[in-house]
Amino acid sequence: MKILIIGAGYVGLSTGVVLSESHEVRLLEIDRARVEAINRGESPIYERGLDTLLKERLAEGKLRALHTSDEIGPMDAVFICVGTPSGSDGSVDLSQVESAADFIMNHLDELLKDYLVIIMKSTVPPGTTRRYLVDRIEDQHLLDRAGVVFNPEFLREGTALDDSKNPDRTVIGCTTSKEFEVVRSIYEPIIDKDSGPYLHTNIESAELCKYASNSFLATKISFSNEIANIAEQIPGADIGEVMKCVGLDSRISPRFFGSGAGYGGSCFPKDTLGLMRVAEDLGISTPILSAVDTVNKQRPLRLVNMLESLLGNLSMQRVTVLGLAFKPNTDDTRYSPALRVIELLQNRGSIVRVHDPLAPRIVQKLELPNGVEATNDLEESLTDADAAVLVTDWPVYKETGLSGLTRFMKSAVLVDGRRVFSEEEVPSSIQYITVGRTKKSET
Ligand code: UGA
Repeated sequence: MKILIIGAGYVGLSTGVVLSESHEVRLLEIDRARVEAINRGESPIYERGLDTLLKERLAEGKLRALHTSDEIGPMDAVFICVGTPSGSDGSVDLSQVESAADFIMNHLDELLKDYLVIIMKSTVPPGTTRRYLVDRIEDQHLLDRAGVVFNPEFLREGTALDDSKNPDRTVIGCTTSKEFEVVRSIYEPIIDKDSGPYLHTNIESAELCKYASNSFLATKISFSNEIANIAEQIPGADIGEVMKCVGLDSRISPRFFGSGAGYGGSCFPKDTLGLMRVAEDLGISTPILSAVDTVNKQRPLRLVNMLESLLGNLSMQRVTVLGLAFKPNTDDTRYSPALRVIELLQNRGSIVRVHDPLAPRIVQKLELPNGVEATNDLEESLTDADAAVLVTDWPVYKETGLSGLTRFMKSAVLVDGRRVFSEEEVPSSIQYITVGRTKKSET
């Protein structure tokens, strides 16, 4: 099939590279530098395996990025994969979706072949796909030539390629079985045979399901963090053991109960706020979602307070923050808890240094607060430090071990914001505190 993807960001590029295994894919992107990088085989985003696959697909001629609409031609499907960031008031900024929908409507003459399916993948408030696309296709009496689908993505940064091939489910929100079958036939040659089912829902249910899925995962994390706060006050209790026991109830599942620095990234914070805003516009109150957000916002403060409890006073202390990305295996720092930890430490007068394995990539895109240096050299970042706060659970910290991490520090003081180390791994020579269990000396 011939497929056009509008937006070569994280979702568009990953989806394009995966779909071009079996289809002819064109990526339409407004950022010229991004188009050039993609066509040179250099992924502008950090995603394991993406560079190699991108090069292969370009060499096979199955994938190409375009900057202008000149070369689009007739298509079987068009995906909308543009950003839907939070506006300053927490509302969902739909300007990119609007432009993409306008583009499609204005280029229908070139795009239409036999039957065109327009697939919204960007996360949008329920009703958006109908308003921007279905109603307009209907108004132009084109329903026999074009169909509209909302097909949410459930890709995690860092494992997007794997997630694309092994989804737990593929949700296809549309009006008739015709669009459903076209979208299924796009995915069927790509997705592993033993993956989850294809679900045919209506468009609005699919739109709401994306918000509800991310909000529920965020809820699990905040719930686990709230129980961790309680566990810390109960000598002997350990949140890891507690949530393992809870999660093994088959009605619950143990995943996404990891307590620590809280959730960040471009999705959970944005989508919980977005769903709250959708509800507010409908006159519905969302006390659960508000609490999820509040609990999450308290996490960085909790880690900094833990450090203060160890050091007494943070002023003029040299503190190394371990990890800057919102999670391992990405260079994405959007809503990263590490950024808030740095800010809180600076507010209390600490001198902050940062380590992240992808620091050189990150500092190309992110301006760090004044006085903060970031490096990917672990030894350099920790030398002469008075303390360290581990915020992102990059595997290198576990591999280096507590003795390795503290070897070059002035004082061996560490707050483990991701529960990387078990109680048995903590030597008595190290002042160590983590989330969800009391300090060793207190048990
Ligand atoms: C998330 C969802 O997992 C995807 O299904 C979804 O498609 C994507 O958002 C999206 O909407 O595009 P992502 O933001 O890449 O994916 O990252 P996750 O792996 O879900 O982690 C999100 C945050 O939660 C990270 O900061 C992570 O450290 C934190 N987290 C995760 C925890 O604090 N505890 C956990 O147990 C799991």
